[in-house]
This record gives sequence, C-alpha cells and structure tokens, in this order.
Amino acid sequence: MNILFLNPIGRVGGAERVLVDVIASLRTVGSVDQITVILLSEGPLAARLRQYQCDVIVEPLPGSFAEMGDSQFIHKNRWYANVLLLGKMSTGALKLVMYLARLRKLIKQHAPELVYSNGLKTHLISVFVRPRNASLVWHLHDFYGTRPAVARMIGLAAKQVDRAIAISEAVKQDTQRLAPKLKISVIYNAVDQILFAPSDEPVDGAILDQLSHLDAAPAGVIRFGLIATYANWKGHHVFLDALLLARDKVSSPVRGYIIGGPIYSTAGSQVTVTELGTRIKELGLEHEVGLIPFQDEPSAIYRMLDIVVHASTRPEPFGLAIAEAMSCGRALIVSAAGGAQELFDEGVHAIGHTPGDSSMLAEAMIRLGNDPDLRSRLAINAAAASRHRFSHERFANQLIRVFQELRH
Ligand code: GLC
Repeated sequence: MNILFLNPIGRVGGAERVLVDVIASLRTVGSVDQITVILLSEGPLAARLRQYQCDVIVEPLPGSFAEMGDSQFIHKNRWYANVLLLGKMSTGALKLVMYLARLRKLIKQHAPELVYSNGLKTHLISVFVRPRNASLVWHLHDFYGTRPAVARMIGLAAKQVDRAIAISEAVKQDTQRLAPKLKISVIYNAVDQILFAPSDEPVDGAILDQLSHLDAAPAGVIRFGLIATYANWKGHHVFLDALLLARDKVSSPVRGYIIGGPIYSTAGSQVTVTELGTRIKELGLEHEVGLIPFQDEPSAIYRMLDIVVHASTRPEPFGLAIAEAMSCGRALIVSAAGGAQELFDEGVHAIGHTPGDSSMLAEAMIRLGNDPDLRSRLAINAAAASRHRFSHERFANQLIRVFQELRH
C-alpha cells in the first residue's frame, strides 16, 4: 500500500507524536510499502519521521496562512474573527491558489492510494489536493464545533472525506454534529509501554530541582508536576493557584514543576516563560515552583513526580500526558472533561476535577499529597489499565482494520 501523510507543522506536538506512532505501527505490521509525508512547515518532525524510511517533503505554506491559528478562530467576537479570516484570506488568496496547485501536482506524482491528513489546516487543504482515485482519511485530534468559522468549513469539506479517525468519543461526537454523514472510527492514542513504564525502585526526584534551578528540596518532599505545551488552555495558572492553596495543607513540603515549552507559532495563544516567572513570584512560590524546558523524551520526568497534574481549562480532546502518566504508574489528577474523561475511571485510576476550578484541584492535591496509600493504589491501577488501553498493538490493529476497510 502507498500512503501519503499531510501534517500542518514541522514541530513535534501531541498530534505529531501520534503521527509518528501511526507510521511506526504501519512499519511494524509491514503492510505498507511506501510512506510519503508532506509537512507544511520546517521543524524537527522531519528527521524523526525519516527514521521510519519515509520520504519526507517540506512544502511551506505561504506566510499569512501559516500563522493563522486557533486564537483567530475562537475570538470571542464572531464578526471580528470572520472579518480577520476573510482579510487574511483575500490578501493571500492568489498565493494560496498557486500553492494548492503545486501541492496537488506533487501529491499526484506520488500516486498514493490513500491520503491521510493529521491536522486542521491539512484537513481543509486535503479536499483540494487529493488525487481523485485516492481515499481520503482525516485523523481528528481536536474539537472544531466551538469555532464557528472552522465548524462551517469542516462541515463542508467533510463531504469529500472517506473516513475519519477520532482520538476519543468526545471528538467523534463533536465532528459528527458538523458532518452527520462522515464515517468516524474512534481509535484511542497509544503510549510506548516499554518507555513509559513504572520504575521497580524508588526514584529520586532531585534532578528536577537541578533542571529547574531550585535549591535542593527538603526530605519527604511531595513533587507535583504539570507536563504540557505552553498553550494558554493547558491551565498553567490554575496549577499555580491550586499549588498555593494546597501548599500549607499538605503535611509534607511541596514542590511544583512546570515542564514544557511553546510549539505553535500562532501569536497570543501561549503562555511565556516571562509571564509564568512573574506569576510564580507574585504568588510567592519562587522557592517551590520551577520551570523545566520541553523534554523530548519525558518518561524519566514522570517517574520523578509523586503526583502528575493535568489542568486543561478547556475540554481536552485526549491528553497524551494523562495516558503517559498512567503508563508510568503515577498518581494523577485530571481535568475531567472531553476525551480526557474517557481515559480513566474516577477514584480508580486517577482523581478528576472540574476544568479551571483551582479550589477543586487544590482539594485533590491535598488529598493525594497526604495519602501515600491512595497514591500507590491509583498508580498500580493506572499502570495495569494502560497496558491494554494504550498499547501499540491495539492501536496498530485498529488502524490496519480501517485501512483494509477502505481498500474494499
Ligand atoms: C491534540 C489534542 C490532545 C491530544 C493530541 C494527540 O494536541 O489537543 O488532547 O492528546 O492531539 O492526539
């Protein structure tokens, strides 16, 4: 089989890590002969994908379209968002038309049987550039229903799509409302079960203090960590507010770590190191909270944390950090909405809180911080559940089934 993948960005965010997993799975199963990936911007993803014998081509999108992102689409003022969108579109329209023609030709030369799009921009573009005789698959990593302009475009474009794969039931339902006729299969993301595995021995978290330039922590410290990109909605501020509330109610000393960095180039949609630093000082947490840059391979970091916190303020479509923390056998607190809610059973594998509610998050932090038995019970259950819920084997089998169905 000959598959051509389209991905909007060249940096490695959650959706891109899943794309790597998709390709790795196809290579393991061995039923795909030719894999070509076209990225619409430069970045480290290209090198990562080439490890799987893929032909990777970077075909940068014209400037104004490359910068267009969520913040424009979800602007509170719907009119403003639409005017902005139209303005950007008309100024760049000609460039875009030429770009699409070029991309279309390039794809045709590769003669794929299947075109597989992995992000919003490529979903919209894919319907213009797919060869007529190739099937078109969208991998849905996000909620589009809340963004009026996007929702309309997705609804229209979906008519040309043969199959969609959704990362959770919540994402499926969201897109299904926009595209009632689109056939959507839910395939939960996978996590490398060898890399993201619990440790047999106690792990010393002192490295976290070194990485974040904090003083050595006192004995018996409880380490809380938020592992996320710097997108605004990942709840960095909620985490900090909750840590402040929890600090004096946890009977041991506490530390908080924010691990991650920026990934998208869209202006205004991310927190910055400076902003976080200022907030940490304002809250008087500078001796307890440290920032650790994005980690290419974060499994060791998870194992150094006593409690992993997921604090997204919007419903999380899936939440790779949740699945990774579970696989590493960590006590975990989840912002329980959207797809994130489907990944765990409340009180069995993790504790949930309402998105954006820092008091409720603080309560969960206090509860877990003061109860080592509860922490280890959740951790053991989470690791066991993860072995089958998030295995690569299950992931690969479900993908192959979809591809086979498309061939018939
Ligand atoms: C997107 C979603 C995130 C998901 C990731 C991988 O980044 O926001 O929830 O984990 O894609 O599918």
